[in-house]
Amino acid sequence: MEGPLAGGHLGFGMDWANYNLRDIVTEMHQYLKTEGLDIPLIPAGGIFTGSDAVSYLESGAAAVQVATRFTAARECGLPDKVKQEYLKANEEDIEVNGISPTGYPMRMLKNSPAIGDGIRPNCEAYGYLLDAKGNCAYIDAYNREVALHPDAKKVSVKDKTCLCTAMRNFDCWTCGHYTYRLKDTTRKAPDGSYQLLSAEHIFRDYQFSTDGKIALPA
Ligand SMILES: Cc1cc2nc3c(=O)[nH]c(=O)nc-3n(C[C@H](O)[C@H](O)[C@H](O)COP(=O)(O)O)c2cc1C
Repeated sequence: MEGPLAGGHLGFGMDWANYNLRDIVTEMHQYLKTEGLDIPLIPAGGIFTGSDAVSYLESGAAAVQVATRFTAARECGLPDKVKQEYLKANEEDIEVNGISPTGYPMRMLKNSPAIGDGIRPNCEAYGYLLDAKGNCAYIDAYNREVALHPDAKKVSVKDKTCLCTAMRNFDCWTCGHYTYRLKDTTRKAPDGSYQLLSAEHIFRDYQFSTDGKIALPA
């Protein structure tokens, strides 16, 4: 059950900030109980410390799902340069916008190269998002800009992004709400870069940290 602080696409509208995971989970526990349903409930979205995880487990969650903390892991498939962007980000560097052609609000870093890019749609190679009729909201937005600027070498498309190509090129830096707290989970080197963590370190921190604390790497 993903709450409004989750990464990337949200199952909420642009009013996501009016909801919180704790209330949704409590409501769902109540519903399952009333209906006599035995379905494991797994909350996700903003569970940033072991203490956060424990509090959900203590209130009846079967498990928790976490992601953002692992974007700073060495094992994470993002290029190291992009991991550093996540680690550097402050709260005001993150937005929920409407540029995903899926129609869902999407949380991402505001400095993602994908924002405003007017790349030619690359559906022949990566047309994952095409609907049954071969349509995509980005293609419509791109064609509109090309028609408006017939002489331009390259257009800028601000309202939609070519998600397939941008994801493939690691140019669409979707992220979780608490990405701005990643810098508190590691050490900063004298050159300003942040130390990447092992996935094992992060996992153990979730398992063993107490009192909302986060263990820094050795
Ligand atoms: C970088 C990133 C991108 C994500 N993109 C999506 C997505 O597009 N759609 C989705 O349903 N979940 C997406 N997730 C959400 C995760 O599946 C997960 O449920 C959620 O982020 C957990 O919360 P946390 O990141 O605060 O730990 C993404 C997570 C991250 C970290």
